[in-house]
Amino acid sequence: MEVGSLKIAYAPGKVILFGEHAVVYSQPAIAVPVTQVKARAAVETGLEGQGITIVAEDLEQSYTLEQAPPDDALRAIVVSTLEHIGVGTRQDLTITVSSTIPIARGLGSGAAISTAVVRALGQHFDRAQYKHFEHLVHPLSPQTIADLVYETEKIHHGTPSGIDNTVIAFEKPVYFVRDRKIEIFSVKNPFLLAIADTGIASPTKIAVSHVHRAWEREREKYDEIFDEIGTIAEMGRQAIERGEIEAVGRLMNENHRLLQLMGVSSPELEGLVEAAREGGALGAKLSGAGRGGNIIALITQETRSRVELMLRLAGAKDIIVTEVS
Ligand code: PMV
Repeated sequence: MEVGSLKIAYAPGKVILFGEHAVVYSQPAIAVPVTQVKARAAVETGLEGQGITIVAEDLEQSYTLEQAPPDDALRAIVVSTLEHIGVGTRQDLTITVSSTIPIARGLGSGAAISTAVVRALGQHFDRAQYKHFEHLVHPLSPQTIADLVYETEKIHHGTPSGIDNTVIAFEKPVYFVRDRKIEIFSVKNPFLLAIADTGIASPTKIAVSHVHRAWEREREKYDEIFDEIGTIAEMGRQAIERGEIEAVGRLMNENHRLLQLMGVSSPELEGLVEAAREGGALGAKLSGAGRGGNIIALITQETRSRVELMLRLAGAKDIIVTEVS
């Protein structure tokens, strides 16, 4: 999208349907994009000599590339993208980011902002506009974007599996196994998910390291849990491909039980999961790192309003309904 010299790009949020945490230990997982929330990045040619200015609107922060601390994720994605495109960082640009994706709630806010930045920079330095760079500029495929964003995910997450950056860059339901080529699969019968927020921020890095320490203490128990979750993700994919929605719901419940055993649920998450089931959801589970963040509930048009009501009564701070298709 172009407004004068302004290039604007977006990226959606995401939820994990099956397989969070186990995916870090090389089990399969399934994630889907959530287009009701999005990150936005705008790239504009700046004044001559200004260098690169990053404006994080939501945080009311503005800083130059030089001022940014070395572990600043925005700085990292800007530098790696410009290097990838082949134009270097001696540019005069203003890059403005904002997002409607709640932070640290398992919706992939960090990966979405980085993806929007890569896309906007890719548009800014497209072949048509920068003919003299033509020999350098590579098209930014979804996989290239996912790879660039993965590097910044390490800043946010420590040891990310790569699922967030992948589902967000591809914007399709993905079946993901760490270090393997992703598989995009089809959804036979589209279905609805209610995503309900506990209102509690839960940094992924902390939940992942908590699980890692527990795994180190009790390897056998945790490896078994991860294996079972991997099987559920596999079965979940088949159920979605066959349009067996009730089976998807049952598998979500089963996955949630294993996440409880893993120690990543919380009283607030339990309250929302139970409320969704009482409201008639076909299944419900925490989604993402856990200990806070969101739950997801499988609903239908018929159960939608009752599930939403029950979730609100149980204290949900926000509810997004999205269609998986
Ligand atoms: O970003 P979140 O909260 O959806 O968590 C990512 C999912 C984990 O499996 C917990 C971590 C990872 O890197 O896959």
